[in-house]
Amino acid sequence: MQLLLICGSFRVNSTNDAALNTVRATTPAGSRTSRFTGLAELPAFNPDADVEPLPRPVADLRSVITASDAVIFCTPEYAGSMPGSLKNLLDWTVGGTVLAGKPAAWLNVAAPGRGLGALAQLRTVLGYVEANIIEPACLDVPVQRDMVAADGTVEHEPTRTRLAGIWPLLSVPDNV
Ligand SMILES: Cc1cc2nc3c(=O)[nH]c(=O)nc-3n(C[C@H](O)[C@H](O)[C@H](O)COP(=O)(O)O)c2cc1C
Repeated sequence: MQLLLICGSFRVNSTNDAALNTVRATTPAGSRTSRFTGLAELPAFNPDADVEPLPRPVADLRSVITASDAVIFCTPEYAGSMPGSLKNLLDWTVGGTVLAGKPAAWLNVAAPGRGLGALAQLRTVLGYVEANIIEPACLDVPVQRDMVAADGTVEHEPTRTRLAGIWPLLSVPDNV
């Protein structure tokens, strides 16, 4: 399994980033992870620019998605919805249809009952681009700021175990 991890937060010591770092740190033998780190470099989506040659950051985004077996999103909610930067990333995937049929899931690290607006939007957009949402792997695993260790992973053992628990849920559906 080649798993791509996409974070919607730029914040230092981000809880969303820590959750993805923990998934990465618990990668089972035989699987690999990659992080998309070009979120800030993506230009504001413009259909006129969605032609070859694509802007470099967009070409990079599309190639890492294409090379992955599945994609995990982890994003904060701002003002009731997903961050504009993440929606911008998703807009750049429409033209390339790189998420069509791609197994995708998310981790919600917000406190119980929080962050739901962002996830509802993510579900809508992933549905629109015909991604293959793996429902069992869409997990609510609250991560508090004091759970983040100096190495940028979650050190709270029960939460770390729950985050690592996403791997067995990521088996690629037969129809992909
Ligand atoms: C400007 C701003 C707006 C926010 N709006 C919401 C919101 O609408 N709903 C919510 O649940 N949290 C909201 N939050 C809280 C963040 O989503 C929360 O702090 C999150 O854990 C940040 O993720 P991070 O630790 O990965 O940076 C907001 C935070 C900021 C700074």
